[in-house]
Amino acid sequence: MSLFDLATRAVRVLPAETAHRFTIDALKTGLAKPEFGLEDPRLAVRLKRSGLLLPNPIGLAAGFDKNAEVAAQMLGFGFGFVECGTVTPRPQAGNPRPRLFRLSEDRAVINRMGFNNDGIGYFVRRLSAIPRALGVVGANVGANKDSEDRIADYVAGVKAVWPHSSYVTINVSSPNTPGLRGLQDRGALDELLGRVGGAAREMAAVVKNRPVFLKVAPDLDDRAIADIADVALAQDWLSGLIVSNTTIERPESLASRHKAETGGLSGAPLMEKSTRVLADFHALIGDRLDLIGAGGIASAQDVVAKLRAGAQAVQLYSALVFHGPMLVQRIKSDLLTIMLAEGIDTPRAFRPS
Ligand SMILES: Cc1cc2nc3c(=O)[nH]c(=O)nc-3n(C[C@H](O)[C@H](O)[C@H](O)COP(=O)(O)O)c2cc1C
Repeated sequence: MSLFDLATRAVRVLPAETAHRFTIDALKTGLAKPEFGLEDPRLAVRLKRSGLLLPNPIGLAAGFDKNAEVAAQMLGFGFGFVECGTVTPRPQAGNPRPRLFRLSEDRAVINRMGFNNDGIGYFVRRLSAIPRALGVVGANVGANKDSEDRIADYVAGVKAVWPHSSYVTINVSSPNTPGLRGLQDRGALDELLGRVGGAAREMAAVVKNRPVFLKVAPDLDDRAIADIADVALAQDWLSGLIVSNTTIERPESLASRHKAETGGLSGAPLMEKSTRVLADFHALIGDRLDLIGAGGIASAQDVVAKLRAGAQAVQLYSALVFHGPMLVQRIKSDLLTIMLAEGIDTPRAFRPS
């Protein structure tokens, strides 16, 4: 067993948040060195609306690298893109600990971190130091908990990260900032996207166009999905949706002792629901917006399920907690095997036509 494997196993016996901090520090110091391999060109995808070119469709979801500390290293593990954040304009401590729970029996995680981060100034300094050529690095922006004008926080965030990121995500779907998800309601979303759209146009005039994504929750009924699709489609500057964030629902099937903790549930029990919501959005939107699927992915089969539901690319986070970062290489090689078995030469071919 390599030192790296040993460290990956040791991390799993630490309390969840300590393990996460240890992992980030190990990556920063170079203790946990990714193995760089050649990317198979058959995995490359270009997102239709945004034009983003990804060496493979598997991304690291937001929340792992909140402060843009280890994006380069995570690209090195083989992710096709990495999303840093969520970052808020001012630094924020987040909720009291413990606030991160492993539900091992359920292959799930509950978190109520509450946008703990070092603030946009620090974030932008780190982000701007990442060489562009390394790969696609997105920036996920949010609002401070005590902000008087939350939309102004999004506008400030978008403007600050714009010159330094490959794309920007507007996160209105964290369950851990009270009231934040209310921004998904039709009227509030209209106002939010109106003001962020103004900032996007302003920035595009001076820097360069950046794809902007809106990240939504999985806890949406048909009416809410239709409203979000409608409002999103009306924005000519918006590239797509990321579906989805964590859920506040607790499926009956959960077995872990942590299942009643407050917060957002992610990992395996989120797979079915988030994929259903993704398919619902795809039914309304088709290819008019890029859809990125997230929620419960732990295998190449899961990736294929998201692509079949209409995703052009996917993201994962929770599965890393149980399988370690080498999971990405495994998923990519299994995906190629499935592609070969089905006689197709691009992940796009899984998508509904
Ligand atoms: C510990 C933790 C922290 C997260 N923090 C964020 C965040 O800051 N911003 C965000 O948009 N999503 C955040 N997420 C949600 C993930 O990006 C992802 O949408 C969700 O976990 C579903 O994917 P998964 O099942 O592969 O984890 C977080 C998830 C976890 C587990």
